Amino acid sequence: MSTKSKQSGKQHPICVIGAGHVGLVAAACFAEMGNNVVCVDNDKKKIEGLKKKNMPFYEPGLEPLVKKNMSKKRLRFSSSLSGSLRSSEVVFIAVGTPPQADGSADLTALEHVARNVADALDSYKLIVEKSTVPVQTGLKIKETISRYRTKEGKFDVASNPEFLREGKAVYDFFHPDRIVLGVESAKAERILKDIYHGFKAPIVVTSLVTAELIKHASNSFLAMKISYMNAVARVCDLSGAQVEKVAQAMGYDRRIGKEFLRSGIGYGGFCFPKDVEAFQYISGKLGYEFRLLREVKAINDGQPVFFLNKIREHLWVLKGKRIAVWGLSFKPDTDDMRFAPSVPLIGELLAEGARVYAYDPQAAKEARQVFKDVLSPKGNFVLCKTAEEAASRADCLCLLTEWEEFRTADWNRVKRKMAYPLLADGRNMLDPGQVKQCGFHYIGIGRKG
Ligand SMILES: NC(=O)c1ccc[n+]([C@@H]2O[C@H](COP(=O)([O-])OP(=O)(O)OC[C@H]3O[C@@H](n4cnc5c(N)ncnc54)[C@H](O)[C@@H]3O)[C@@H](O)[C@H]2O)c1
Repeated sequence: MSTKSKQSGKQHPICVIGAGHVGLVAAACFAEMGNNVVCVDNDKKKIEGLKKKNMPFYEPGLEPLVKKNMSKKRLRFSSSLSGSLRSSEVVFIAVGTPPQADGSADLTALEHVARNVADALDSYKLIVEKSTVPVQTGLKIKETISRYRTKEGKFDVASNPEFLREGKAVYDFFHPDRIVLGVESAKAERILKDIYHGFKAPIVVTSLVTAELIKHASNSFLAMKISYMNAVARVCDLSGAQVEKVAQAMGYDRRIGKEFLRSGIGYGGFCFPKDVEAFQYISGKLGYEFRLLREVKAINDGQPVFFLNKIREHLWVLKGKRIAVWGLSFKPDTDDMRFAPSVPLIGELLAEGARVYAYDPQAAKEARQVFKDVLSPKGNFVLCKTAEEAASRADCLCLLTEWEEFRTADWNRVKRKMAYPLLADGRNMLDPGQVKQCGFHYIGIGRKG
């Protein structure tokens, strides 16, 4: 579906709860399809900002979509959950499901929403989980609504997991690889098919629990591919093999596929780390110890330390050294630093007494928050306005996010700025031969410099 195409299925007033990376994108895209959408969040500051057309985070293409649909009066924002629920037939829940200390998902926000739905149930409502939730969460939502409702309105609970990628969220929303509908009634299936009318993607209609499990199984599989290649990269390092050639040749096998075979300092973001843990947790609770996932996490957690060891091997003492970091967000085209590998790596560098000069094209605001306790002059963390400023007089330059700006840097000029030309490429994004020609010492992962 192109962003311009309008839905021709029957219209249903939509409420999206949670104006985050998933909720705000979904709300704007549903509105772009011609639906009347209200997007609700309990963060009043965020909603006030959105009412003034201020975006709460960076996501390419989202701002014009939000502005356009607000002007067309198809998209509005509210912090009143009960009022917004009453005026809607379909309620997409896109609140956060953050990890708890034991790895389980914190479902407090979902319970809160379910209780509000129970209060507002004066007519039929279809409650749709868009948040990533452990299998059987839908059953709990149903129980909660039934327990607390005071009115006799009917309802269904469905699951429609979201697979979008931050940085490409708008494109992904309109061009999904598949649409999963976990439903328990013909009515719920019909409504969701109305909403997704016009999409070319295959639609998988299944039970509520199966749909919930599909999302955890998919994300954990993708995380497993990354950890697998990071483990292969370790063997490459030890044996002198080149991991990118291994990945290339593996990828030609259609049973394996080319995607997600890149080795680096590990996955991050609000999905893979927490979903792997939550899937492992719920599997254990149901009676299956998913040990494979424990190893996926262990490999990933070890990557920043492994990378740091390589830098230390080269620089010997880190205390007092000036380390440039290019890239703080967990991947390019987003300012999201949740569970970004840059965070533990910088933490280790600072703990060893290094001074870190960091730059990210979009994540400076987030970084100021994440590193507020160690920001200079209090600590040894300096946020720079340009990549070049960060690299100036550095003993090592760490590349941690594959921003295009870094790929196309003038490496001769960067080298001249640095005190010592050590390039630690945490994403294997550069051609080692090319940067070595400019005079750099190169550290990669699973590849020779
Ligand atoms: N970020 C992604 O790329 C992505 C992709 C697919 C699925 N998901 C899943 O979608 C869900 C949301 O993720 P996100 O990245 O959008 O999170 P987010 O933190 O960006 O957004 C969540 C929003 O929900 C709001 N919220 C929390 N409790 C609320 C309540 N009780 N009432 C109203 N609003 C409330 C928060 O204020 C926040 O704005 C998670 O389960 C996540 O795993 C995320």
